[in-house]
Amino acid sequence: MTHSRRNILKAGAAAAALTAAGVALTEGTGQSTTLPLTPCTPGSTTPPIMEGPYFKPNTPERTDLVTSGITGVLLTVSGTVFTQNCTPVTKALIEVWQCDAKGKYDNVTYTLRGHFYTDANGKFSFKSIIPADYIDNGDFRTPHIHIKVQRPTAQVLTTQLFFPDNTDAYGKNFAQLNARDQLIDRRCTITLGTKVDNHYDGTFDLVTY
Ligand SMILES: [Fe+2]
Repeated sequence: MTHSRRNILKAGAAAAALTAAGVALTEGTGQSTTLPLTPCTPGSTTPPIMEGPYFKPNTPERTDLVTSGITGVLLTVSGTVFTQNCTPVTKALIEVWQCDAKGKYDNVTYTLRGHFYTDANGKFSFKSIIPADYIDNGDFRTPHIHIKVQRPTAQVLTTQLFFPDNTDAYGKNFAQLNARDQLIDRRCTITLGTKVDNHYDGTFDLVTY
């Protein structure tokens, strides 16, 4: 999803919220109007990216992955799951998994793994940490979060979320890390706010199949 598209999505959601709140929206004509729901491009989902070797099924249902012993730069990611015509999806299944602040995946238990569902407005939010970069079988990977999203009865979309070049975590240069990664898709970059007390708030909307 392009930045402009994400912004359009946000504008649509904001318009919907304002309309729901009873706020009149006006255009240059002075006429009161209601902004249309997002003009999505049919057939355009969040870009899929390969699953990789570390997915594990049967994860616990939870939105807080910062369990005992997990340390790092804290991160909350919030967003909305949309269909391709920009209708929010209720009860969409989201699955996330990632490595820790040292670049290690837990492939034995379920550390930094979990699944959860969107609410009645299609919204989700989960807590985790910013993962580190790692090298796997000689392949360099910039920090990323693996994610799957599935609208009820529809196909699963699998992708990865990345971090902006100016991300401040673990003393690393994210611009250099991102530039080295062969799988990165910049359209899948989480929008981060300002880091406060070792914590980032991030947003990313998902458009599913
Ligand atoms: Fe990975």
